[in-house]
Amino acid sequence: MEKRGKIGVFDSGIGGVTVLKEIIKILPKENYIYYSDSKNNPYGEKTSNEIRKRCDEIVKYLINQNCKVIVIACNTASASSANFLRKKYPEIIFIAIEPAYKMVHDYSYEKPTLVMATKSTIESEKFNLLLKKYDNHKTYLLPCVGLAQKIEEGNETQIKKYLNENLEMYRGKIENVVLGCTHYPLIQEEIQETLGKVTFFNGAPNLANHLKNVLEQKNLLNNRGSGKVKFKDSQDSEEKRKRFFIYLYH
Ligand code: DGL
Repeated sequence: MEKRGKIGVFDSGIGGVTVLKEIIKILPKENYIYYSDSKNNPYGEKTSNEIRKRCDEIVKYLINQNCKVIVIACNTASASSANFLRKKYPEIIFIAIEPAYKMVHDYSYEKPTLVMATKSTIESEKFNLLLKKYDNHKTYLLPCVGLAQKIEEGNETQIKKYLNENLEMYRGKIENVVLGCTHYPLIQEEIQETLGKVTFFNGAPNLANHLKNVLEQKNLLNNRGSGKVKFKDSQDSEEKRKRFFIYLYH
C-alpha cells in the first residue's frame, strides 16, 4: 500500500457525492476515484446477496485502480456488505458509512427523531443493532422506497410529490432527522420545507474525520497529490457525470 494510491469511493449511484464532498474538504490533496453503479441501482430494494455481488465487482475494479483505501459511501451497501468485504479482502482498508443515529444519542437524545433510509438499510441486522444500542424511544423509522431513485433521476417534481405524500404526517412531530441514505443530503432543503424546522444528522463529516485518522495512523496520507477526482459510471452515463461534478464543486 502506498501513499500515492487513490481513495476509492462508491455508491449505487451519484448520491455518494455527499460523502466525497466532506472527505475532500479535509483531504484536498488526495486523488480519488468514484464509482457510481447506475446500471444496477437502486440497491435499496435488492436482496443482500444481490448487493454483495455488486459490491464485490466494484471493489475488484477499485483494487485494480490502485486504491489504498475504499470508502463505502452507501448506507445500504455498508449494511449488507461491509463485513463480507472486510472478510474477503483483509488486506484492504474499508471505511463504511452508517446512519448517524449514535449522534442523536450523543447530542439530541430527548427529541423525537425520524430515521430516513432505504428499506434494505432499515431491515438490516447492522442498523437494528445500532438502533437497539442507542434507542431514544422516540424514534420513527421511515423506509423511503423509491426516493433514492427519484433523486438519482433528478426529478424535482416527483421528489416534492414523494416528500409531500410520505413526510407530511411527521410535520410538527419531529425535531431530528437522520439522513440514512447518502442521496438524501442532496434534498435536505426540500425535506426541511416539508417537515418545518428540524436538525439533520448526516454521518459523512464524521466518516471523513475517521478516514483521515486511519490514513494518518497507517502513514498513508498523501499531502502532495493534485486532488484529482476520476468518475466511473457502470452505465457510462454522460448525464450522471455532469450532475456528479455539479454536486461536487457547487
Ligand atoms: N445511496 C444509497 C444509500 O446510502 C442507496 C440508494 C439506493 O437505493 O440505491 O443507502
